[in-house]
Amino acid sequence: MPRDTDRLTLAVAKGRIFKEALPLLAAVGIVPTEDPEKSRKLILPTSDPAIEMVIVRATDVPTYVDYGGADLGIVGRDTLLEYEAGGFYEPLDLRISPCRLSVAGATPELLERTRLRVATKYPVITRRHFAAKGVQTEIIKLYGSMELAPLVGLADCIVDLVDTGNTLRANGLLELEEICKVSSRLIVNKASLKTRYALATRLLGKLEALLASTAGRP
Ligand code: PRP
Repeated sequence: MPRDTDRLTLAVAKGRIFKEALPLLAAVGIVPTEDPEKSRKLILPTSDPAIEMVIVRATDVPTYVDYGGADLGIVGRDTLLEYEAGGFYEPLDLRISPCRLSVAGATPELLERTRLRVATKYPVITRRHFAAKGVQTEIIKLYGSMELAPLVGLADCIVDLVDTGNTLRANGLLELEEICKVSSRLIVNKASLKTRYALATRLLGKLEALLASTAGRP
């Protein structure tokens, strides 16, 4: 079913990103008209009649926007770096959900090895990172609780998001190396920017102005 060109569909990563995106979206006049945690509806209308929201798993956000199932998306830079195709632009750093993607393990000596078994949900980023350092990796793909892998001998180290560092500390692991800084980004489907130019640029302009007015604030 083709989507109306007089409306924008915004895909937002569920969980922490969605929670942190809500105040930002509210500040530009976009508030879901139903409680997303209670509603069984998959497409949520908002207070802006030209904008509807879909809340999906983070890893699905780039897919929806790449294929035009959504016109815009809000998702972490980690997910974007892991997603290799890209029929979308990434015009704005929304500066929400800041954290970092790091290598973590039980001891710093791990970084001196030339072969490592690494558990992660980011195989693309992990392979690229270690290949650039000449380290051979065997990647164990996991979907959550990465910190468990070194504890039970499933992997030598992990590549995962670190925010406060509490999860690593609680499990006796050290942050050994930062791969990159992460925050949530706005992405826009390339074709949507043409077919829904006025709507898309209006929203981008509002978000840009909001971010400029809060620049430098924590
Ligand atoms: C994330 C991440 C770490 C943790 C880091 O997990 O994967 O486990 O948060 O945060 P901290 O440094 O503040 O402790 P999340 O809770 O999102 O769940 P997940 O393991 O399912 O990804």
